[in-house]
Amino acid sequence: MFHWLEKNPFFFALAVFVTIAFAGLVEIVPNFAQQSRPLIGTTPYSTLELAGRHVYIKNSCNACHSQLIRPFKSETDRYGDYSLSGEYAYDRPFLWGSKRTGPDLMRVGNYRTTDWHENHMWDPEKVVPGTIMPAYRWMFVNNTDIDTAYAEMLTIEKFFGVPYNKPVPMKDGTTKIIKMGATLNEARMMALEEAITISHDMKNQDVIDAVALGRIPEIVALIAYMNSLK
Ligand code: HEC
Repeated sequence: MFHWLEKNPFFFALAVFVTIAFAGLVEIVPNFAQQSRPLIGTTPYSTLELAGRHVYIKNSCNACHSQLIRPFKSETDRYGDYSLSGEYAYDRPFLWGSKRTGPDLMRVGNYRTTDWHENHMWDPEKVVPGTIMPAYRWMFVNNTDIDTAYAEMLTIEKFFGVPYNKPVPMKDGTTKIIKMGATLNEARMMALEEAITISHDMKNQDVIDAVALGRIPEIVALIAYMNSLK
């Protein structure tokens, strides 16, 4: 029936284009629906979490780790629910990744804890013998750049409508407000408060002392970010 099409390069190319374009639209168009972004229960990152995300990107963790769980049983058994596009509404840039040298980290906050990360980032080999993940000891010394995180929050709130200081709907019907400091100093104070809570679960005395003195080592921000991945 379609033999004439195979003999006509122009219409054949056109038919291929239309078929692929239609298949593409079927995948893409639903994502523009109002309900699909952001997914209920997805909240913007707090100041410290966002700073931790910068630490993650700066150290190229995404070169070895994906943040995208595919809808296969082998993945959902291991990592939890598969990813939905609306969960990435506040991720700029996306960190889906295309290579899994290490495991996916999309929901790592559900099954790893602050002290686990602390030990693992200091010496991965001691926690998981045989691992090829490098140690990141400088994060226990370097200061977190809160100012850049705050600058990003101001920008995404203003230009992308990220709902800081506004109620965000949660899955259980309640709402939650993620606060953004009114000034840089307030943002620094809020980040420090978060850091103090996290340092209570840490053992490294240098890090605990630093936080008590008002300085936030990068490891604390990174752990805040890891714990937020759920
Ligand atoms: C060279 C590749 C590589 C890089 C770069 C890398 N990792 Fe890993 N990572 C691994 C491998 C392999 C594992 C699995 C073995 C293990 O747990 O150490 C892993 C495991 C992990 C785990 C445990 C996940 C789980 O489900 O058990 C976390 C958390 C993690 N990495 C975080 C990070 C962070 C944060 C960075 C950046 C600072 C980073 N990784 C950079 C390779 C890497």
